[in-house]
Amino acid sequence: RVAYVNGRYVRHAEAGVSIDDRAFLFSDGIYEVIEIYQGALIDERGHLDRLARSARELRLAPPLGEAALRFVMRELVARNRVQFGHVYLQITRGAARREHTFPPAGTPTTLVAFARSHDPDAGEAKARKGVNAITVPDIRWKRPDIKTVSLLPNVLAKQQAKEAGAYEAWLVNADGFVTEGASSNAWIVDKTGALRTHPGDSSILSGITRARILEIARAKGIPVIERAFTVAETHEAAEAFISGATTLVMPIVRLDGRPIGQTSSECAAPGPVSLGLRACF
Ligand code: PDD
Repeated sequence: RVAYVNGRYVRHAEAGVSIDDRAFLFSDGIYEVIEIYQGALIDERGHLDRLARSARELRLAPPLGEAALRFVMRELVARNRVQFGHVYLQITRGAARREHTFPPAGTPTTLVAFARSHDPDAGEAKARKGVNAITVPDIRWKRPDIKTVSLLPNVLAKQQAKEAGAYEAWLVNADGFVTEGASSNAWIVDKTGALRTHPGDSSILSGITRARILEIARAKGIPVIERAFTVAETHEAAEAFISGATTLVMPIVRLDGRPIGQTSSECAAPGPVSLGLRACF
């Protein structure tokens, strides 16, 4: 496997950055994950726009322009022969003597990127069965709309989910509303067939996949309500699912052990709206 580090293509196993790197010391960096489907970068435009926004919000200057970034990502897909998988791209505030304040002007930012293959059939098999989720308090900082590598609450939530036999953790804010998943956006289909998801404000990472699903839903004539929902509303919903670049649309069939949209606990199964949206996506 070949990775890209600050202008060079290097063997993944030997790729590295300085121990003075700001991302290592302070989580001072941003990232994107872009799905590769049949060798193509999915929604590249949206991901690059969000990367540029994250950079602006943190006053980070990307070391490469957009055309060069696009080129590097294509090189990684080609050199690693990725058909299905993702490209990971990270930009940090560079390596400098450890001071909380920004490094001296002119310190180059760090750019790391790599590509990874995954088995598309495994994702499909998982989606046909659906996955479980648990709920945990949303203890993140107040700017989760910026896609930073500062992901400790997400890491802890996801680990808690794994240990509970679940695939995702839904983050619940102090008012009892589900904001999003630890690494995905959260959705329900209510009993009237309408889609509900948290508004794309500063309390969630507004997903590129989320934006695409909103488009698909509108094109299919599915009513969409961008309004936060509670855990109780999820238990009363017809369906629930998550969205993200690597998960695409993934049905949630149990939340905190309780089946979604079913009366019998033995037959928790994905619903038609979730599976239809996945197929369309
Ligand atoms: N995560 N919310 C959070 C907190 C996320 O980390 C992600 C994506 C999303 C979905 O965004 P998008 O549809 O643009 O992928 C929502 C990526 C995949 C990750 O961290 O691996």
